[in-house]
Amino acid sequence: MFELKDKVAIITGARRGMGRTHALILAKAGAKVVVSDISLEECQKVVEEIKAQGGNAIAVKCDVTKREEVDEMVKKAVKEFGKIDVLVNNAGILQFKPFMELTEEDWNKILNVNLLGYFRCAQAAVKEMIKQKSGTIVNIASIGMGQTGVGFPAISHYCASKGAIVAMTEAMALELAPFNIRVNAIAPGAIDTPMSQGGDPKTMEATLARIPLHRIGKPEEVSNLVLFLASDASSYITGSTVIIDGGWLAT
Ligand SMILES: NC(=O)c1ccc[n+]([C@@H]2O[C@H](COP(=O)([O-])OP(=O)(O)OC[C@H]3O[C@@H](n4cnc5c(N)ncnc54)[C@H](O)[C@@H]3O)[C@@H](O)[C@H]2O)c1
Repeated sequence: MFELKDKVAIITGARRGMGRTHALILAKAGAKVVVSDISLEECQKVVEEIKAQGGNAIAVKCDVTKREEVDEMVKKAVKEFGKIDVLVNNAGILQFKPFMELTEEDWNKILNVNLLGYFRCAQAAVKEMIKQKSGTIVNIASIGMGQTGVGFPAISHYCASKGAIVAMTEAMALELAPFNIRVNAIAPGAIDTPMSQGGDPKTMEATLARIPLHRIGKPEEVSNLVLFLASDASSYITGSTVIIDGGWLAT
């Protein structure tokens, strides 16, 4: 049931970090993968890794803030593989800045990638999914989404974008259920990627002290959850946000 044989999956932000491992793991499960990100060259390297493990993939340059590039990505996916079964909205950016120093530009930049980027990609992909009356969308949120009992200072705009993704996921799940399209979110805790490596080592130490499993998560551990939500193994799950945090929120 975890198989994605004959399925076509688009992963955004897939040149590195978690997007890269989502692409590798979905391809290993049999999916034909569209590896997309802002750098075509780096996407191509991930495609080569997928091909080396016996999979099938193409690289597509797509900046999710540009509607025409999003439409082109979907067009290329359909031209190459004939359909779209899975969309993993993963492309995201993070900026540390105290609330009182944030500008409207900072807000617009974060929301344009993290929230509107997900909206643009989902809208373009759903146009195709509706034709075949099936599909799954996985939106990567964060435990910074709010209402969890844990807050994160100096990233209020990032947290707002992640909370909005969860709300959007629920509304999309309701609207798209009649078309047999499932929409779920994943809320990761601290995961070892270039994004989390940018932080202050003292903050990381404090973070580790709060995580019951006492280690940072591996990108592949999130990708396994993406695979579950993308595959028929999760066929009765829609509108949910699944937390993957080594127990952080349980403390
Ligand atoms: N690393 C963590 O601890 C953590 C925790 C919770 C949630 N997340 C979320 O997981 C997702 C993946 O992040 P990551 O940790 O792998 O970070 P990362 O920085 O390694 O990867 C993010 C990717 O998004 C791409 N991207 C940025 N702007 C883009 C744009 N406009 N168009 C297309 N692609 C763009 C980047 O090029 C990069 O490849 C993000 O949505 C992030 O917010 C990360």
